[in-house]
This record gives sequence, structure tokens and C-alpha cells, in this order.
Amino acid sequence: MSTLLEVSGISVTFDGFRAINNLSFNIGNAELRAIIGPNGAGKTTFMDIVTGKTRPDEGRVIWGEKNISLLKMSESQIARAGVGRKFQRPTVFEDQSVFDNLLMALKKERGPFDVLLYRRSAQDRDKVHALADEIGLSAELPRKAGELAHGQKQWLEIGMLLAQEPRLLLVDEPAAGMSPAEREHTTNLLKEAAKTRAVVVVEHDMEFVRRLDCKVTVFHEGSVLAEGSLDHVTANQEVIDVYLGR
Ligand SMILES: Nc1ncnc2c1ncn2[C@@H]1O[C@H](COP(=O)(O)OP(=O)(O)O)[C@@H](O)[C@H]1O
Ligand SMILES: [Mg+2]
Repeated sequence: MSTLLEVSGISVTFDGFRAINNLSFNIGNAELRAIIGPNGAGKTTFMDIVTGKTRPDEGRVIWGEKNISLLKMSESQIARAGVGRKFQRPTVFEDQSVFDNLLMALKKERGPFDVLLYRRSAQDRDKVHALADEIGLSAELPRKAGELAHGQKQWLEIGMLLAQEPRLLLVDEPAAGMSPAEREHTTNLLKEAAKTRAVVVVEHDMEFVRRLDCKVTVFHEGSVLAEGSLDHVTANQEVIDVYLGR
């Protein structure tokens, strides 16, 4: 598997506290990866660095076949290069229909005059229907996004991110506040999404991580403590000690 994202030797210090400590981490094209680790391990800060929100004090973050440094790019440039990020609070347009939310999110390669000529093309409609199918909201397309259940809103936001055609999707604690059925749907959705792009999921719920059935990276004190299958890492004595607070 070729490498899509290569993080090497990054460190970040906040007020003298090393939140990320010489972290190295790779993700391949179309790979599904779970990141676990105790609170404060640096999982969210890692996503902040990849998306350009936080700048590391040292280290490299290299992207794509052309080995571009993400550290020289702005947050919007990084997003345009193909990194999508899902935040915990959904940012859907509540007064708009599910259909319109997805339609507005579609990636557009427009020239200067295309905006004037823009019509809801059959192609766009097909894309919206395909996305709705992928996130399991086909039956909800006419409904206002504000009427959706918590889990459905999260899926809509994932759909809106997928509409941007990212090559890497970063998802921080997607299962928070979800019912067991919603969690199961979310794992299926992320597994499906990872068939055509890389998906990195931070999640505390071990049942959720088990269902993802993917390689797991354990973060601790800002670096990688262990990596491998969930069974492999949870059998690691250092990982057990960290989780038991020893
Ligand atoms: N902007 C910030 N300013 C100061 N400290 C921060 C900032 N962001 C994160 N931290 C600290 O860095 C550590 C790692 O945080 P975080 O990446 O949120 O951990 P995780 O997501 O694994 O729970 C924590 O101790 C947190 O308090
Ligand atoms: Mg976090």
C-alpha cells in the first residue's frame, strides 16, 4: 500500500507541556485506521496538525505522491488538497433539506461564468442520490436537516464531507451520544467510505473499534505506544498498564 500521509518526528509544546512528542505515523491510500489512547494522549492535536490548525514545533507532515509538505499550507489549502475533517458538532444547515445540504456540499470545478449558467444538473442529482444511499439517508432527502435525529445529522455531515471527495477523512469520536444501532450504522458507513479513500477514526468505544476491524494505533503522551490489530494492541502489557493508569 502506498503512503498517503507521512508524519515524522513531530512535537508540539503548549505552555511547556509536550502534547505531541516526536510522533511518527503513516497512513496508506484507502486505508481505514483507528486511533485509541487515554484522554490527553494527543489524538485531537494530531488531527489539528494534519489539518493545519496547529503548527508543530518540529517534524514533517508529507502528503500524496508528490510528497508535498502540509506544514507550508493554510487550513483551506489543506482542505482543497483532499483532507476532510469531521467535528463532533454537526455543521449542517438546519433549515435546508437533506437533499439541498448534500447538493450544496458537492465539489464544484467551476469557471468564472459557470456560476451564472449553473443549473441543478442531472449529474448533480445523481451524485446526491448516490451520497444519500451511501450514508443511509435516501428516505430522508426531502426532510429539513434540523428534523433529523442526532445520529442522522452526523451521517449527513459525513455525506457532506464525502461530497467534497477527500482523499483522507479524519473523524474524531463519531460514536459519542449515539445509540447502539446508530453506532453500528456508523461503523458500516466508515468501512464503506474507506474502500475508496483513507479514513482515520479516533474513538473510545472499544466495541466500535472492534467492529471497524482495522489496524489500530495507540497514542500515549503524544507518541505511538503500539500498533496492530485490536487484539494485538490490547494484549500489549504497556497498553494495559496505560489503560489501568499504572
Ligand atoms: N490549544 C491548546 N492549548 C493548550 N493545551 C492544549 C491545547 N490543545 C491540547 N492541549 C493539551 O494537549 C494534550 C493533548 O490533548 P488532545 O490532543 O486534546 O488529547 P486527546 O484528544 O487524545 O484526548 C492535553 O493535555 C491538552 O490539555
Ligand atoms: Mg480528543
